[in-house]
Amino acid sequence: MNLKDCHNFSDFRKLAKKNLPSPIFHYIDGGADDEITLKRNTDAFSDCDLVPNVLASVGKPDLSTTVFGKKIDMPIFLAPTAMQRLYHHEGDKASARAAEKFGTFYSMSTMANTTIEEISNVSSGPKLFQLYVHKDQGITDDLIERCKRANFDGMCLTVDTLVAGNRERDHRTGFTTPPKLTLQSLMSFAMHPKWVFNYFTHEKFQLANVATKTDKGTNIAKSVIEYINEQYDPAMNWKDAEYCVKKWGKPFALKGVMSVEDAKRAIDIGCTAIMISNHGGRQLDGSRSPFDQVKEISDAVGDKLEIILDGGVRRGTHVLKALAAGAKACSFGKMFLFALGAGGQPGVERLLQNMHDEINRNMVLMGCKNISELNRTKIIYRK
Ligand code: FNR
Ligand code: LAC
Repeated sequence: MNLKDCHNFSDFRKLAKKNLPSPIFHYIDGGADDEITLKRNTDAFSDCDLVPNVLASVGKPDLSTTVFGKKIDMPIFLAPTAMQRLYHHEGDKASARAAEKFGTFYSMSTMANTTIEEISNVSSGPKLFQLYVHKDQGITDDLIERCKRANFDGMCLTVDTLVAGNRERDHRTGFTTPPKLTLQSLMSFAMHPKWVFNYFTHEKFQLANVATKTDKGTNIAKSVIEYINEQYDPAMNWKDAEYCVKKWGKPFALKGVMSVEDAKRAIDIGCTAIMISNHGGRQLDGSRSPFDQVKEISDAVGDKLEIILDGGVRRGTHVLKALAAGAKACSFGKMFLFALGAGGQPGVERLLQNMHDEINRNMVLMGCKNISELNRTKIIYRK
């Protein structure tokens, strides 16, 4: 199997599974507890059907939209995700270059393996930074200042990860940052010599944006659960979020908003956007899915905030449904990480091309000339 055999999520996932040692594959693939929310995120899209209009003389639809003050060529982008260096040795650089080629956002996680400055050197495309509020406020301030200097376009603050979710697959595989050989994982690393070779022959793994401030996660191996619980502030509140919004001073989103009440408070503290998200089912299992929530939130605040939806997006039609329900754009994590694991930058490019083609084709089939025509008249909920 190779990249040209990858036509959809499950193909990329299969190839990534083949290429990656199992602790790494399962870190991407897994969710919290019983993984009910992980599954529901995608299933929710099937509770709603698209209603096309015919003979609409669509021609070539315009897929562009504007988020974080930037016009992007299609209503999808790459969600911020940690430690991309583990999925391919070019890590974030590969993702950032692929996103730039497709005229859309690359997002950098606080836990990236590449620095803010390196990414601004390799990509002049739209860039978003994902912030975690650290117990050490100096680290948070430093990240915001550096993003300003590096001219990132937007920032999002993740608010659904005050403590780490219970990811039992990671307990079983012994996944850590940086990866460490354990009795359980030894065989799996031995069976992926190409990955091991690339890991050791390219730049050293580090949590690049914080490595000068803490050795943990870079030289001292920690499980992701330990790392999050040690570094991030579990008492973060609305005042802290407002502080970040003001300090940043440019387009700002809260990532992980799931209720109307919180969406309204996001407006009060000066956010320009929210990301409706449950962290891809990796945090609170049993949480409602973003697609199940987007309609109600959009009815309440859709005219005052940009709504971005992530979680479970696997198909162009999922994006169309999310937009018709009220989102302005969607992002995805697992899907592009599997593409990265399957084939580096060309893998992510192939995925973005597939998604572009799916959205384009389905817009024509729906009779929509541009994405603002995707509205509630275009969907019907089954229940
Ligand atoms: C994530 N996500 C995430 N979110 C965030 O705010 N900071 C982070 O560092 C990470 N890291 C991360 C790693 C991996 C391996 C995954 C799969 C996800 C969550 C991500 O931004 C997004 O919310 C979800 O991935 C969306 O769900 P799907 O598209 O994966 O179903
Ligand atoms: C995760 C964290 C790092 O989901 O956001 O693994």
